[in-house]
Amino acid sequence: MRLWHNPASPFARKVRIVARETGLLPRIEEIAVMVSPVNPNADLAAKNPLVKIPALEANDGKVLYDSSVICEYLDSLHSGEHVIPSDATRWDALRLQSLCDGILDAAVLCRYETFVRPEAYRWNDWIKGQFTKINNGLDALAAEAPAWNAHFSIGQIGVACVLGYLDFRFADENWRGPRPQLAKWYEGVRQRASFLATMPV
Ligand code: BEZ
Repeated sequence: MRLWHNPASPFARKVRIVARETGLLPRIEEIAVMVSPVNPNADLAAKNPLVKIPALEANDGKVLYDSSVICEYLDSLHSGEHVIPSDATRWDALRLQSLCDGILDAAVLCRYETFVRPEAYRWNDWIKGQFTKINNGLDALAAEAPAWNAHFSIGQIGVACVLGYLDFRFADENWRGPRPQLAKWYEGVRQRASFLATMPV
């Protein structure tokens, strides 16, 4: 299998962590590509009409996207402990993944708005609105963090990718300050081999 990714992308990181947590990494070739909405990558465009990463080319040639579909596909390929539970905790795990994807959507949009878009065209109220989503989402994560168990399910993997991305791109925002319970949870998770091996650059 071939995984098209960018080392800075938190969505690609989710897939790359799942590849490591499930033991599938030896079966995957990771291909790093540059992505930009204003300068689309031709190789990636041939695989995914949305020209977005992550995209996974399976061994039979089919190409899967987005990150949640790829994670589900990878989880179907092994017989170890699944990152997407099939018991009663399944819907909480999937809901948590959606919450994290939404926070990441807002964070990546802010990154593009403040870094890629020329300064003259930036819209501060819009950026503020995205940060409100990010902060409300983080407050919701902090409220439920004390109830999370040791299983590193797709929900917790998503949370780790959110916090890692905020540290990477928005360190000045100090997400930890008002959320010590979430910071405590993250201190344990950031030591995991799958997390260390996928640090954004
Ligand atoms: C970033 O550089 O922050 C980034 C790169 C690819 C996808 C999303 C974010």
